[in-house]
Amino acid sequence: MMVQLEELQNEAEGEIGAARSEKELLDIRTRYLGRRGILTGLLRDISKVSLQDRPLLGKKGNDVKDFLTEKIDMALSLIRDADKEEAIVQETIDVTLEGRRIKPGRLHPITQVKNEICAIFSSLGFSIEEGPEVEREYYNFEALNIPDDHPARDMQDTFYIENDILLRTHTSPVQVRVMQDQAPPIRILSPGRVYRPDFDISHTPMFHQIEGLLVDKGVCFADLKGVLTIFLQGVFGKKTIVRFRPSFFPFTEPSAEIDIQCTMCQGKGCRICGQTGWLEILGAGMVDPNVFRNVNYDPDEYSGFAFGLGIERVAMLKYGISDIRLFFENDWRFLSQF
Ligand code: FA5
Repeated sequence: MMVQLEELQNEAEGEIGAARSEKELLDIRTRYLGRRGILTGLLRDISKVSLQDRPLLGKKGNDVKDFLTEKIDMALSLIRDADKEEAIVQETIDVTLEGRRIKPGRLHPITQVKNEICAIFSSLGFSIEEGPEVEREYYNFEALNIPDDHPARDMQDTFYIENDILLRTHTSPVQVRVMQDQAPPIRILSPGRVYRPDFDISHTPMFHQIEGLLVDKGVCFADLKGVLTIFLQGVFGKKTIVRFRPSFFPFTEPSAEIDIQCTMCQGKGCRICGQTGWLEILGAGMVDPNVFRNVNYDPDEYSGFAFGLGIERVAMLKYGISDIRLFFENDWRFLSQF
């Protein structure tokens, strides 16, 4: 058995010396020193030899085990060091390579226009209020004087979620929520996302509106004209010519649609304004007495005006953008111009 142990040690030492990878070494360790390894088996057999030979063989067996364990550990550590060196060489950074430029982020043009509009109205004493995008039918329609069978519901096709729950089609429901919560005087602006099943070069299923509401004693149409003229001249320039046209909204009476003289052709008529010389910008009107009654305001005591505009439309006219979909394609070449 002594000879066997000697031979085994030599054989294993040879294999350790020839091993070229961590895996080969681990295999050798299992094959010789593992629970079912060759050396482990031999050591177990020592219990079968005579009592007299046992101490010597036992010592030799342990020496071989220690010797091989040490050899394998050393070889493993050499191979691991070499692997690490190799990895470092492979991963070396080439400092002469040109770096990737970091493109700084910037505000989306819609956010920029929204901020600009909010700043103008803040300077006139309006505060910002927000409302939910998933809205009750009551706030989106009924409380705004648009009952179930009213043809005005067809003016705004709607994404319904459940019977009574929908994606708001405009920011006007915020008017109702604010008036329910607060007593007059009220002077608020409410920007936010709204949804309609539309899709073409000037309509997208999600777009942004800004709602404005002012309620107090003695508010009249001249106030509405003054505030909206200041706003439009603030966004489009001091010389902007503004036109108020009679219109209809169920929640305002009287109602108006407000145009500015075409910024492209100065009113002469062009492709952008459809040869009319005018660009439609927003809807507005004096709050309908029925809306006041729905929120328990006395229409004999209070009056007010409301308006609503599409932020994309303002941005398109301000920057001469002909397709609304450009705002939502996230093309850096487009966005970086703002
Ligand atoms: C309204 O939504 C009214 N709530 C506005 C209002 C408020 C009137 C308060 C009176 C008092 P209208 O449906 O016209 O009105 O929409 C307002 C603006 O939203 C439009 O002028 C247009 O610029 C924009 N708009 C409407 N649909 C889309 C769409 N699918 N994509 C982009 N912009 C749209």
